Amino acid sequence: MARSSEHAPHNGRQVIDDTLGPLADCWGGTAALSIDGQPLSARIPTSPAFVYNRRCLDAAVTHLRGYLPEGIGIHYAIKANPFPPLVRHLAGLVDGFDCASREEMRLATEVATPEQHLSIAGPAKSRAEHRFAIERGIVINAESTGELERIAAEARVLGKPARVALRVNPPFALKGSGMHMGGGARPFGIDSEAIPAILRQRDRLADAGIDLVGLHLFAGSQSLNHEAIASALDAWTELLRDWQAQTGFTPRELIIGPGLGVAYHPGDRPLELDRLAPAFERLDRNLRELGETGGIDVDTRLELGRFLVASAGVYLVRVVDRKVSRGQAFLLCDGGMHHHLALSGNLGAVLRRNWPLVAADRLDAPLDESVDIAGPLCTPLDVLGAKQPLPALGPGDWLAVLQSGAYGASASPTGFLSRDAAIEYLV
Ligand SMILES: Cc1ncc(COP(=O)(O)O)c(C=O)c1O
Repeated sequence: MARSSEHAPHNGRQVIDDTLGPLADCWGGTAALSIDGQPLSARIPTSPAFVYNRRCLDAAVTHLRGYLPEGIGIHYAIKANPFPPLVRHLAGLVDGFDCASREEMRLATEVATPEQHLSIAGPAKSRAEHRFAIERGIVINAESTGELERIAAEARVLGKPARVALRVNPPFALKGSGMHMGGGARPFGIDSEAIPAILRQRDRLADAGIDLVGLHLFAGSQSLNHEAIASALDAWTELLRDWQAQTGFTPRELIIGPGLGVAYHPGDRPLELDRLAPAFERLDRNLRELGETGGIDVDTRLELGRFLVASAGVYLVRVVDRKVSRGQAFLLCDGGMHHHLALSGNLGAVLRRNWPLVAADRLDAPLDESVDIAGPLCTPLDVLGAKQPLPALGPGDWLAVLQSGAYGASASPTGFLSRDAAIEYLV
């Protein structure tokens, strides 16, 4: 269970427990960060590296399923981490994939089983992406009426109907989320007030080659507020009921992004899924009723990325140099913002905050130093930690940044300063 509290952790093991809550056991070891009893620093031959832990991926999916009614499936949003071995591993655990590009669709079609559902979302999709999706029956989440026209044009050329869901820009944002992707004016989705008119035209759309299979509902991501997530799920249900009453449309397929967040910073508490379980049950019940009214089963899936993979990854770097500048101790490391932009505070954060970072081989040592940690790049932006509590460390010591399994390697400017990429491992 989550053990986060107001207290400051006194050693690295406690940082792991506080940050990862129920998934902390996947990263074993009282003295050294380990997988299956083997210290990472002995198991991983190189630094800098991203290490993804299979057992933790399994545990994250099992943990979520434990609180989801059977009728609600899980889709993995590949954008969170597209490392092919990790996506292949997840194919054995989830019910489908959300893609954001042709390359992600290609990977998904390679690893998915025929029963798994695939969809593609994102504004300004290319013709090639529309064609790829239509040819393979991948659901296209349409982000505008202009996109509906472009999809119809491709469907005509290919002589095959396109499977389409309308992505909805809701009249609300997911409160407490790190990234708002709904509410107000957005590049994403079709404004909710314009949805009923499109649903009324579904027969005309079908004639034009668009099989309107359902709706894609995504209001934001990285929320640690269970009440905000629950009220967004309730608000979606209200909209669906309203649209059904107005237009008679019942979605056959419904994809909902719940925006489940993970603890990244001091004071963040891991989301307690037991407190969300009633909202998941309510959602399931309401959608069954919606289906009964419409005379079909609504096939519902939650679409998530970071909640499934963030805790399963660590970013490993080694200290190259230690120096003291005007009284402040610095650790200078062999990896930095070119591998892990979010860690440096430059991926959407307004203010940089420290991440859970531990001395990988000294988890039991007291955190009695307060150090600044920098990477190898010649820019003050290359920050790994500021006044970070750690044991005294020096050249050759390993640091591990927790919660690095999502939006790390693939969301960073790897070409910046032409340095080597971090190696990724699935262990
Ligand atoms: C459409 C869509 N689905 C899913 C996700 C995944 O969000 P998260 O990784 O926070 O679960 C995003 C993130 O931006 C998104 O835009």
